[in-house]
Amino acid sequence: MYALELNRLPSSFINLPSAVIETIGQAPKLQIYSPHLRPLRLLQKLHRGRIRKLILRTSSPFQLRIGKRLLVTSDNRNIPAIYRSVPRLKIRAGPAFGTGEHATTHLCLRYLTKFLTSPRSSRTTPKVLDLGCGSGILALACARLGAHAEGWDNDSSAIQEAQRNRQLNRLAPRTHFRVADALRSALPPAHLILANLYDSLLLHLLPRLEKHRKAGTGLILSGILSGQEKQILRTAHKLGWKLQHRGRLGRWFCLQFCA
Ligand SMILES: C[S@@+](CC[C@H](N)C(=O)[O-])C[C@H]1O[C@@H](n2cnc3c(N)ncnc32)[C@H](O)[C@@H]1O
Repeated sequence: MYALELNRLPSSFINLPSAVIETIGQAPKLQIYSPHLRPLRLLQKLHRGRIRKLILRTSSPFQLRIGKRLLVTSDNRNIPAIYRSVPRLKIRAGPAFGTGEHATTHLCLRYLTKFLTSPRSSRTTPKVLDLGCGSGILALACARLGAHAEGWDNDSSAIQEAQRNRQLNRLAPRTHFRVADALRSALPPAHLILANLYDSLLLHLLPRLEKHRKAGTGLILSGILSGQEKQILRTAHKLGWKLQHRGRLGRWFCLQFCA
């Protein structure tokens, strides 16, 4: 996979998967992805003036271990012997966000694994709703751990990627992906809700989860930068959610709530 990074443009301007990368104190930038160099070279020529930084790079294989409960990898080779019997998820290092290497995804994987492997959740098959599913990594991890998972994304290229990852892992019977806006469409019931979005979206999403706030329901919010967590905590608390875990990796926070 190759990526071209340039000044922010409306994504409708191009016909390739893209993501806006926001970093505190810096202007947002747009990354455009393609498995082939040619279309990116063409864009590079067309938009020379707008290019902020040019990275044409192949994605490297990764392996992410969530204790002894889950292994997420882009490559089934070189798996250490002690991990061969651990539930495994293969994720293509593709264009959509979510290979597990990002702190926000990593934290979600830790918490969802704990939630789904706790003795309480083994009584019924848990239903999971993954809002902003990107590559499908979180929903697929839940399915690998025995849940039924539905993943939503408002970007159709992310949903295509999630469907590819679902095929790769033969998890079709337990997962469903659809193009939908988490802030507009009616949300189905779930025992666990995952939302790795960003703070303003999370603040708009929280009041929409009123019907989901029932005993035994879990809510995992990620994509929260240090400094933003207090407002999320205040809003969630006002709406009746109780904080269970607060995790941090670098500048990123992940919050787990219960009803
Ligand atoms: C930070 S990525 C998270 C991807 C994956 N869940 C993970 O944890 O790695 C956020 C995803 O949310 C999607 N998204 C942004 N706004 C959304 C909305 N209003 N409704 C649904 N999806 C949205 C983006 O397209 C993107 O794929």
